[in-house]
Amino acid sequence: MLSSESSAGPSVDVDGPAPAGPFDAASRAAVYRAIHTRRDVRGEFSGRPVPADVLRRLLEAAHAAPSVGFMQPWNFIVIRSEAVKSQVQAAFVKANEAAAALFPGERGRLYRKLKLEGIRSAPINLCVTADRTRGGPNVLGRTQNREMDLYSTVCAVENLWLAARAEGIGVGWVSIYEESDLRAILGVPERAAIVAYLCLGYVEELYQRPELEAKGWAKRLRLDDLVFAERWGWTHAAPPRADHAIVGHYRMIEVERQGD
Ligand SMILES: Cc1cc2nc3c(=O)[nH]c(=O)nc-3n(C[C@H](O)[C@H](O)[C@H](O)COP(=O)(O)O)c2cc1C
Repeated sequence: MLSSESSAGPSVDVDGPAPAGPFDAASRAAVYRAIHTRRDVRGEFSGRPVPADVLRRLLEAAHAAPSVGFMQPWNFIVIRSEAVKSQVQAAFVKANEAAAALFPGERGRLYRKLKLEGIRSAPINLCVTADRTRGGPNVLGRTQNREMDLYSTVCAVENLWLAARAEGIGVGWVSIYEESDLRAILGVPERAAIVAYLCLGYVEELYQRPELEAKGWAKRLRLDDLVFAERWGWTHAAPPRADHAIVGHYRMIEVERQGD
């Protein structure tokens, strides 16, 4: 175990665990507030410039994300140029027309009314990539499941998204483009996957629930329908019975459900 000697005081063990109890109530509330009031933003950007130090804090938050084997596969391409944004916008429009055609009838009409990007109205666009070769061929934790680098990068995006909420900055994730178009526009090499294309900027207002829900596209699912116990499809629908082993109990519920 290493220790560091500081001129300010006694040596501090920086490589061992430090006390880490729960946050005080106000800090806890702030974390949950960021989580529950975070929104995907397409049309609410105010246009106010994002100072360099604020952007830096957001990138630091992203860079603090967990990553498989501490691989840190991410890169962040910060885009402010109107010329580059216009090219990305054109790639979006092309892909969005193709996407709209996949939803027939009423759904297609609703799809065409939705605003699904804020590329040019956001002062900053951010492309987040995952370099799939970083750390060499064998990265701890990624030996069997190669996609873990992508999931790590998504963790970085979520960190940034939540930190942005706390800063009053909205983030919109745009995924409607042909990857080859974005690669060509931004010069992303084949070894890097494009994980996210984000639009960032200050917002004065946010939707209180997902915009897609407010506009009738989709509803939030019931959490209780999504939580299983011990095994796929097993639920806590009934309290455990004393005369059943725990596994027997859940199997019994599954059999009952299949008979529904
Ligand atoms: C991987 C990913 C891709 C997304 N792509 C788009 C997109 O192309 N356009 C869009 O308007 N929203 C996009 N979104 C935002 C979702 O529509 C949004 O998260 C969802 O409707 C829930 O709303 P909320 O984020 O405001 O809670 C994306 C979100 C994620 C996580």
